Amino acid sequence: MTSISDTLLTRRTIRKYSEKPVDDKLLNDLLIKGCRASTTGNMQVYSIIITRDREKKRELTPYHFNQAMVREAPVVLTFCADFNRFSRWCKANKAEPGYDNFLSFFTAAIDALLVAQTVCIAAESEGLGICYLGTTTYMAHKIIEVLKLPAGVIPVTAVTLGWPGENPEQTDRLPLEAVIHHEEYTDYKKTDIEKYYLPKEKREDSRKFVIENSKETLAQVFTDVRYKRADNIHFSKIFLQVLHDQGFMNQ
Ligand SMILES: Cc1cc2nc3c(=O)[nH]c(=O)nc-3n(C[C@H](O)[C@H](O)[C@H](O)COP(=O)(O)O)c2cc1C
Repeated sequence: MTSISDTLLTRRTIRKYSEKPVDDKLLNDLLIKGCRASTTGNMQVYSIIITRDREKKRELTPYHFNQAMVREAPVVLTFCADFNRFSRWCKANKAEPGYDNFLSFFTAAIDALLVAQTVCIAAESEGLGICYLGTTTYMAHKIIEVLKLPAGVIPVTAVTLGWPGENPEQTDRLPLEAVIHHEEYTDYKKTDIEKYYLPKEKREDSRKFVIENSKETLAQVFTDVRYKRADNIHFSKIFLQVLHDQGFMNQ
């Protein structure tokens, strides 16, 4: 096991996995550690769905935009905001749950994300590789069907997990000063923005990205190709409907 410090400083996303299985005992150990994460009011308003079954992974794959690692990873973990279980407990104990609203969803989503990230760190410190799946929120309505999630439960992220079958370079990060503000937010001058993003723009992989996508700037790759406004609005509408359907927009 690598120290947490080393894990945090050397980690990178792994999208290809070896054939080596992830045994149940190890996975259980990671989940126990994950569930020690801070949780709002100690309510633990989350659930984690483990997908190991080949057929179930195959069913999930199109809803993760056919990303190969969903089919190929030995384990897929779907982390859900879950007020179903807690509300059921309240009702069984003469308590009226008041969690059918957006704030409660957001609370449960925070809980779920904290568990997810803690599981990931635990996994990476054991030498396992992980990849988050942002597609979870895009296609939450379909993932809800596949995983049979009841009202009060919404998937907020998923992670593929396995022993690394690749050894990618670490990706870049903005310098710390770009993201840190002391005591108050200091808005960026035009020159700050240029300074902070220039190293990213100059990277070989970024330049390749720009050319491959027939764009003029790296920023355009984000705005016009990867995270387009029209897509963001389309998937926002679907997700707002999911919040409604799962009972979080009743107020
Ligand atoms: C919420 C979230 C969603 C992500 N979704 C995807 C995804 O759908 N597919 C993918 O290949 N990587 C995904 N990633 C991984 C990021 O692309 C990756 O973390 C980022 O490029 C930085 O690389 P690194 O983790 O190797 O440092 C996601 C990461 C986060 C935090």
